Amino acid sequence: MDNYKPLCEAIEKYRKAHVYPFHTPGHKGGRGADETLSALMGDTALTSDVSLMSELDDLHNPQGCLQEAQELAAKLYGADATFFAPNGTTGAIHAMLIGTLVPGDKILVPRNTHRSVIGGLILGGLRPVYVLPAYSEAWSLSLQVTVEDIEKMLIAQTYIAAVLITSPNYYGMVADLPAIAKVAHEHGALLLVDEAHGAHLGFSPLLPPSALQCGADVVAQSTHKLLGALTQCSMLHIRGKRVERQQVAAAMSLLTTTSPNYLLLASLDCARSQMATEGKVLVERAVKVADKLRIALEKIPQLKVLKQSIIGQGGVVGLDTTKVTVNVRELGFSGVYAGEELRRAGIAVELVDRDNLLFLLTYADDNQEIDDVIGKIVLTFMMLGALHREVNKLENSILPLPRQVLLPRVAFYAFKKECLFAEAAGEISAEQISFYPPGIPVVVPGEEITEEIISYCQELKAAGIPVSGPRDSSLERIQVVKK
Ligand SMILES: Cc1ncc(COP(=O)(O)O)c(C=O)c1O
Repeated sequence: MDNYKPLCEAIEKYRKAHVYPFHTPGHKGGRGADETLSALMGDTALTSDVSLMSELDDLHNPQGCLQEAQELAAKLYGADATFFAPNGTTGAIHAMLIGTLVPGDKILVPRNTHRSVIGGLILGGLRPVYVLPAYSEAWSLSLQVTVEDIEKMLIAQTYIAAVLITSPNYYGMVADLPAIAKVAHEHGALLLVDEAHGAHLGFSPLLPPSALQCGADVVAQSTHKLLGALTQCSMLHIRGKRVERQQVAAAMSLLTTTSPNYLLLASLDCARSQMATEGKVLVERAVKVADKLRIALEKIPQLKVLKQSIIGQGGVVGLDTTKVTVNVRELGFSGVYAGEELRRAGIAVELVDRDNLLFLLTYADDNQEIDDVIGKIVLTFMMLGALHREVNKLENSILPLPRQVLLPRVAFYAFKKECLFAEAAGEISAEQISFYPPGIPVVVPGEEITEEIISYCQELKAAGIPVSGPRDSSLERIQVVKK
């Protein structure tokens, strides 16, 4: 049964039946495809790019192969229901927020949340109450939100309808979800988890348990990030009686195309089957190969490699060791520069900021090339280390949260104007500004810009810290709400 892929079988059956297609897609099984597209995709992929035939079921009202495929995924992850999300975890998070909350609801959100959550707040007309994650000066990284901080907010703020947690965070650090679930539920709030980076958790004791195993009510996972689904393919899982299944299904349907790509959906069926048949073996291969890289990097004196010792600090109760984070501050070069050097050596990493690089490893990295690749990585860092640059000892201060004047939704729909950032004190921002580090937004849409915010941003910009968010990345000008 684990090996059974109902959706893939249905597609294959339809393909092999050689039915003449007086239906979409317009390329008609590749007959009319541009030659470059044909070369990129190949015949099998184009003839499998099928459409809404009855035997291929309907994602908006699944009763056949799609229903079976989603039920198999739910069984694998221990969910009561699973929804395939071909618009990535971004779409799944939007549906999670719209399908469980109502406009005006308050939601507790970690301040360093992903932009998809901000999008969900706008779509759902929600009231965010931000909680700052703990921050490590030594690593220049956000850690996790602590149970204590969440409990304090739940006590201080009345009627918080949901707590949203990102766990693991990008660097693999896991929050204390069992304790957070308990405290959230005691206060009548849902626990919603952005587990974009955790579709592989819970399959082996070598990795932390999954959010569903820890008591979350709804979980959005990017199956494409760490498992074998095609890019943009995710899943949304629900469990327990606190959420209404029909409402989540309606939200998923609202936010999903009526013409989902079956190759993408089939890749979710395949990724599920792969994990059902050999999940433990696969994730343990990923852990093993990541350990190999970590051990090699630890031999380079100026590098600091994130490992289990981070557990216990700032709300972190577990580490997904398939993420290898390297702090390069002592090299005297930025993470951005080290990333460029690696790229010149033919290696691309997942993420860089001023001080860190993140290598993302999966079972697919346990291959014949990997020893050579690790050798090249080590050589590149040794070369940088040999250049002996002076280390820049910058501290990272974190500003207090600005005043929220408008809800993100109101700021999104407000009339806007552009002004000089240096003169924007007193204006309400229509944009988000984040620097990496610390990776915690200085301001988000609807919040007041102050003199303190302007000088903080100017200092970080002058120090060459990468900025993310504003349309004008030089931060000369900014979009604000027209009063
Ligand atoms: C923490 C987090 N949440 C959500 C997302 C959105 O995921 P997707 O790219 O699958 O839409 C990302 C993507 O990087 C992410 O890092």
